[in-house]
Order: sequence, then structure tokens, then C-alpha cells
Amino acid sequence: MSEATLAAPWWKRGVIYQIYPRSFADSNGDGIGDLAGIAARLDHVASLGVDAIWLSPIFPSPMADFGYDVADYTGVEPMFGDLAAFDRLLAAVHARGLRLLLDFVPNHSSTEHPWFVESRSSRDNPKRDWYIWRDPAPGGGLPNNWISDMGGPAWELDPVTGQYYLHTFLKEQADLNWRNPAVAQAMTDVMRFWLDRGVDGFRIDVLWHIVKAEGLPDNPANPDWREGLAEKLRVLQHHSTDQPEAHAFTRQFRQLADSYGDTALVGEIFLPRDRLMRWYGTEAEPGVHLPFNFELIENPWDRDTLAALIAGYDAAIPDHGWPNWVIGSHDAARIAARIGERQARVAAMLLLTLRGTPTLYQGDEIGIGTVDIPPHRIRDPQDLRQPGMGLGRDRSRTPMAWDASSNAGFSTVEPWLPLHPDWRTRNVAAQEEDPASMLRLYRRLLAARRASPALSLGRMTLREAAPDILAYERQHGDERLLVVLNLGSEPREVTLPGATRPGRIIVATGTRDMFDGTIDADEAYVVELLA
Ligand code: GLC
Repeated sequence: MSEATLAAPWWKRGVIYQIYPRSFADSNGDGIGDLAGIAARLDHVASLGVDAIWLSPIFPSPMADFGYDVADYTGVEPMFGDLAAFDRLLAAVHARGLRLLLDFVPNHSSTEHPWFVESRSSRDNPKRDWYIWRDPAPGGGLPNNWISDMGGPAWELDPVTGQYYLHTFLKEQADLNWRNPAVAQAMTDVMRFWLDRGVDGFRIDVLWHIVKAEGLPDNPANPDWREGLAEKLRVLQHHSTDQPEAHAFTRQFRQLADSYGDTALVGEIFLPRDRLMRWYGTEAEPGVHLPFNFELIENPWDRDTLAALIAGYDAAIPDHGWPNWVIGSHDAARIAARIGERQARVAAMLLLTLRGTPTLYQGDEIGIGTVDIPPHRIRDPQDLRQPGMGLGRDRSRTPMAWDASSNAGFSTVEPWLPLHPDWRTRNVAAQEEDPASMLRLYRRLLAARRASPALSLGRMTLREAAPDILAYERQHGDERLLVVLNLGSEPREVTLPGATRPGRIIVATGTRDMFDGTIDADEAYVVELLA
């Protein structure tokens, strides 16, 4: 690694890899992945060439939302292992020079969390105010018009005490009351618990939701809502999200993380670009290191859209901030399902050559595409609550395929979700052997990025090019590279920026190693620019 690269913090120069623990590797034959399974497959993660792992929740959970309903913030779900297994995994991760981020879920706990069990037991329980309880509206009915992100009202009536509690997600996920200092203290202690154990930071779940407007006023109706859109879009979440106090908490999380040294906080925040940028905080009072940027997931896949969003996003980053990019997650549709396998290779090139920290989602490195989940195997509560609307997340949570043995080497028994249909040929072992595979492309890309300060840290300048061609320059010191991506299905000509001539092609989606002024359909490459 060059000196320039070494001087930058790992979360700027590095690449994050998301593991969804239920679906990575099952070591104990229950059809569900676990920590020992992850530990046994760390060679794969290390051989990719990523820098950090983000683990989706591993805490004790009734699994109503597959771990995002936490019943104990400082334990490990028995189906995943125990604290000793976690410590072994963390040590193994660190021994490979990798970092580990846990998923911190501050907005809500499981209704089976002892805090909520106490809270709901009576109106005068000391923990009553740890959650958001309200009387029915005068004359009966819901306290306000807020809608759950999973569909239906965001309120559940508790018959024992006659009040409603707020749940932004499932009724099994009660919103914590961050306006109560005892809650903020207890949750800060949770972060400290894991930081003391040695974790390198957190991905923070639905961070923009954690504080609600005083008085819980009705949200305004969304004038653009129409039949067929998810129910949560009926209202604009003006009063239920993105409150100033949430930024203040974020600054405190950052101070705590910084006091542990080389850590990183990644915030899950879905907001328009200008409001997203505020989550970087200011130079004097920074917010999260990386507020997730979902623009590549949320927008159409064409040259003009991508060029505009890349330029706009990059220009909007505050001076003290650092960009980041995402093309897949356990919530979004698989990139290869959305744009096809050939363009998914172009997307891999884009993700790993843009300016900013990439987050890679497990399974995308073998190009898992469309998976039709038969109705009787649907497990995602969001899908079950609003059927037929295409909101299902199971299709991106299917198990990793390791080899062509039974159950793809994921488990000795049938996995909790079905495998992708072509797992016998689309698996890690098969792709290891095939130089043209997606896996080998990801490895080449990650190696190229690691070897190149221009790719990991350099400036980025978009270049005009032919239709369907997205082109940008990356530059650091004397190193100048041109990234050329063909988002279309026709070959094109490529001209180099004035006063430059081509050097080597340092990485390509195919086998090209010489620049000849052309690019094939669905091809992408990075070429050196010489003066
Ligand atoms: C986040 C998670 C998602 C979960 C939700 C509620 O968006 O990524 O999987 O359902 O938060 O915790």
C-alpha cells in the first residue's frame, strides 16, 4: 500500500462487506446461518480483499423482523451462538486484518425486551416512559395518523393499560423514547459494551427515525400517493423523522466512537440528498462517518441519470465529509435481478471505482439474481403484511451458495429460505475456477482499488463521452486513470481526454488489456492516462 493510502483512515480507503448472518453459513445444521459458520468462511471474505465486515443483528431476538427486533442489546441470539463465539469471531476477523461493525438498532426494541415488558405492565411503572405511550384520541381511536413503515397504523392498543404504544415498524418492534435521558444513557451503554469488547464501530439502523416531534402532531398527507404505492407513503414523515434532536444524539455517538480511536459509524438514513448531507454534521461537531448513500439503488440505471446523480452527490458532500456508495443490501432487490447479470458486472466496476467507500452485499460477488420465492416459503413480514406489492425482501436474503454439494454447502439441512435457482453452477467454488466469473471480477476490482491511491482516494472528474458511456477520471499525485463504463448494449467509440494517451488497462469486466479506442456492449474498464 502506498503512503498516501496508509495515511487515510480505513473507512475512507477501505471497502465494507455486509453479512446477513441468517444466510451466510450454517455450522450447526438448523438451516440458519450462525457465528461459527461465519468464522469458518472468513477465508472467503479475506480473499475478496475487503477491509471491514458489517454484521446484520446477532442479538437475542424473537425474529419477528429477523433480528431487527432486539430483546437484549448485549447478548447473542442462541441460534447464532453466544458471547464466547462472538469473541472468537471478532478475534479471527482482527487476525486477518479486517474490522467488524455491528448493527446498532436504537429506534425500537422487541416487545419481548425486558424494558418493554416492564413498560407495558402498568401506567406508573418506572420504565413506562422508556417507550412512547399515548391515550386514545378523544372519543377513541388512534392517537395520530402515523403509518407503520411495514403498513397499517403505527399504533397498537395495549388492552391492559388502555393506551397505545408507537411502533414505526412491526407491532413487535416498539419505538424507544429517546427524549427520556435514561433511554439515551442505557443505549449509549450498549454501544460502550460492544466497543469495550473490541468492535470497530456500528451500522446504525434507521437513524433518522430515532426522535419524534414534541406532541406527536399528525403527519401531512402525501399529495403524490396513489393506489399501488406502499402504505407508509400515504403521509410525509415530517414529524416522525429527521428531528434536530436526532442529530444531537448522532454527534454524541460520534464522540463516543472517536474516544475508542479508529472506529466508524455508518448511518442508515433514507432522505433527499440535501437532508442526508446534514447527517455528516459539521467539522467541529461531526455526525456519522458515512450516512449511507442509496442513490444507485433508488434511481434508474442509465447513463444520464447516473452521471447526474454522481456529479450532484459528489458536489454536495461537505468538505469534512467522505462519500459512500451502495448497490445492494438485505432490504433492496438484488442488483443482478434489477439490471441483469451483464450490467451487474458494470455495476461492480462502478461501485468499486467511484470516489467514496463502497459497501458490498454478500452474494452480489457471485451475481445472485432473480429468486422467485414460492408463496408458502415467504418469511419477510413486510411482504406478508402487504402481499403482492413487490415489497418482499426474502429474494435478497437467500443463503450463500458455497459449492455444488447438497444445500450448496450452506447447511446440512434445507435452509430457512430457498437457494437461488442456478446455485449448482453459481456458487463460490465454481466461480473460483472460472477466470471469467463475477467472483474473479470482484477480486480483480478490489485488488486494483487497493493498489491504486487514485481509485481509493483520488479526485473524480466526470468526462463527456458517447451515448450510454459513463466516463470519469480518478487522479492522485501523478496517477491518472479513466474509468469507462458502457451502460448500453451497443459497442461505442471512446476518446481520451485531450493531451493524454492510453497506458495499460488495469482492470476490465472482460479480458481486454489494450486500449484501442472502443468499448464493447456491457463492457467496463479502467485505463491509465499518460501525459
Ligand atoms: C432497517 C433494516 C430493515 C428493518 C428495519 C427496521 O431498515 O435494514 O431490515 O426491517 O430497519 O428495523
